[in-house]
Amino acid sequence: MTDASATVSAVAVSTARSVPKAATAVGLAVSTKGAVPRQLGMSRAALDANGFEGKPGQVLAVPNGDGVTVAIGVGDPGAVTAVQLRNAAAAFARATAKHAELATNLADVDGVDAAAAGQAVTEGVLLASYRYTGLKNDPDNASRLRSLTLVVGAKRAEEVDTGVERGRVVASAAALARELANTPPTYLNAKDIAAKAVDIGSAAGLHVEVFNKDQLEQLGCGGMLGVNRGSTEPPRMVKLTWSPKNPTGHLALVGKGIMYDSGGISLKGHDVFHQNMKMDMSGAAAVLATMSALEALECRTKVTAWLMCTDNMPSGSALKLGDVLTMRNGKTVEIHNTDAEGRLVLADGLSLAVEEGPDAIVDIATLTGAVMGALGPDIAGVLGTDQPLVDQLTERSTAIDEPIWQLPLERDRYRKLLDSVVADMKNIGGPYGGTITAAIFLSEFVGDVPWAHLDIAGPMMVGADEGIYAKGATGFGTRLLIELATTFTAAD
Ligand code: BES
Ligand code: MN
Ligand code: ZN
Repeated sequence: MTDASATVSAVAVSTARSVPKAATAVGLAVSTKGAVPRQLGMSRAALDANGFEGKPGQVLAVPNGDGVTVAIGVGDPGAVTAVQLRNAAAAFARATAKHAELATNLADVDGVDAAAAGQAVTEGVLLASYRYTGLKNDPDNASRLRSLTLVVGAKRAEEVDTGVERGRVVASAAALARELANTPPTYLNAKDIAAKAVDIGSAAGLHVEVFNKDQLEQLGCGGMLGVNRGSTEPPRMVKLTWSPKNPTGHLALVGKGIMYDSGGISLKGHDVFHQNMKMDMSGAAAVLATMSALEALECRTKVTAWLMCTDNMPSGSALKLGDVLTMRNGKTVEIHNTDAEGRLVLADGLSLAVEEGPDAIVDIATLTGAVMGALGPDIAGVLGTDQPLVDQLTERSTAIDEPIWQLPLERDRYRKLLDSVVADMKNIGGPYGGTITAAIFLSEFVGDVPWAHLDIAGPMMVGADEGIYAKGATGFGTRLLIELATTFTAAD
C-alpha cells in the first residue's frame, strides 16, 4: 500500500538564485499594483483582460511550450502575510498538478519575514499536493510533484532555507495525520496505529510505551475498557514522550483515538457522519503527527502524549445504557448514550496526564456534532480551565491559520446537567449545549492542571478540495499543536 504522506516527505525542496532549467511550471508573484514580472510576458492590461487582478490566491496559468508560467496573486504590495503566502502557494500547486518540477519566487515577497515565507510556501505547495491513493489501482490523482525550488535573492536565501526545512517537517507531519485518518477502519485498528506509533516514535527520538487490554485493566482505565467492550478488536493506549535536555516547560497532549465510531448500542444512523467515522481518531492522529516533528524542530518543551485507541462497536458484550464505569481517577460515570464515547476514553487519558504533573494539558478530539452547529464546518471549538492557555492556543491558531473559537465552560450553570442518580455523573448532558457539557465532563478529570480542549469534529475533514486541503481528512490540529509545543510558555 503506498503511503501518500511518505510521498510528501520525499519531495525535494530547495532554494536557488534563479529558476532551474528542469522546472516545467514556474509561479511568479504578482501584486494588485505596481510592476508585473517581466518573465511572465504579459502586461497589466493583458492580465486584467483575463480577469486576473493579483488578489490573494488568484492564479492565471499561461502555457509556455510543454511548460506553464503562472501568475500568482499576492494582493496589496506591503500587506502580504504568511497566511496569504501559504494559500497562494497552494493555489499554485493546484494549478500545476500535472507538473513534477515546480519553481516559484513567492517566498521572495517583501514584507514577510524570510523564514516565515519559506515555511509558508513550502507548506502550501506540499499540503495542497497531498492525495490519499493507498487503495486505488490506478491513482490518476496521485501527486506528481518531485521538486520545488524557491527562487530568492541572496540576502534572504539562508533564512528562507531555514523556513523550508521547518515547512517540510510540518507538512510531512500534517500529511501523516491525514493519511492515518483517511485509512479505512479495518486497515487501521488500534493495534495497527500503536505499531505505527512505535515505528514513527523510535525514528523521531521519542520514548514509546504501548498498553494492552490487561495493562489498561491494571491501570483501572474503565473508560477505555468500557468503550472497547463491544469490539472484537483489543484496545491500545500509546504513551509517547519527548524529553529534551533542560526543557523549558512540560506540556501534555491527549488525543481521542476512536478508530471507528458506530455509536455502539446507541447505533448511529446511515448518514454522512457515520460514513466518516473512520476519522474519529483524528485527534490521536494529530497528536502522533505532532510528536513526530518535535526532534526535527528542536523543540525545547518536554511533551508527553497519550493516544486513546479503540473502536466503538455494538455487540452482545457491548456497554449497556445504565451501566456505570469507574474511570482511572476513581470517578464513576453512568452511561446514558454509548455514542458519547470519546469523553470516556479521554477521561482516562486526562487522569493519567494529571498524574505526571505537567504545566498544562491540551486534548484534541472529534468530540461533538454540536460544535458544527455552533461554529460551522471550518472552525474548531476551544474550551478550558485556564484562560492564558486558551489565549496562547487562540493566538497561535490565528498565526498559522487553523481557526479555533472559544466557547464558555460555564460549570456553575451547566454541571448539573450531568448529575446522575446512581453515579458521580452521566456521560451526556441533554439536547442543548452539547459541546459545553462534553467539555464540562472532561473537566472532571483534569484536577488543578491548566487545561484546554479542542473539539475538531467540524474541521477534521473537507467535502471538496480547498486551499491546502484535499477532499477527505485535513490533519487539522497538527500544525497548531506543533506551533504550541515549539513556542510553549508555562504560566508562572
Ligand atoms: N465522534 C462523534 C462526534 C462527531 C460527529 C465527530 C460528527 C465528527 C462528525 C461523537 O462520538 C459522538 O457521537 N457524539 C455525539 C454525542 C451525543 C451522543 C451526546 C453527538 O455529537 O451526537
Ligand atoms: Mn460517538
Ligand atoms: Zn466519536
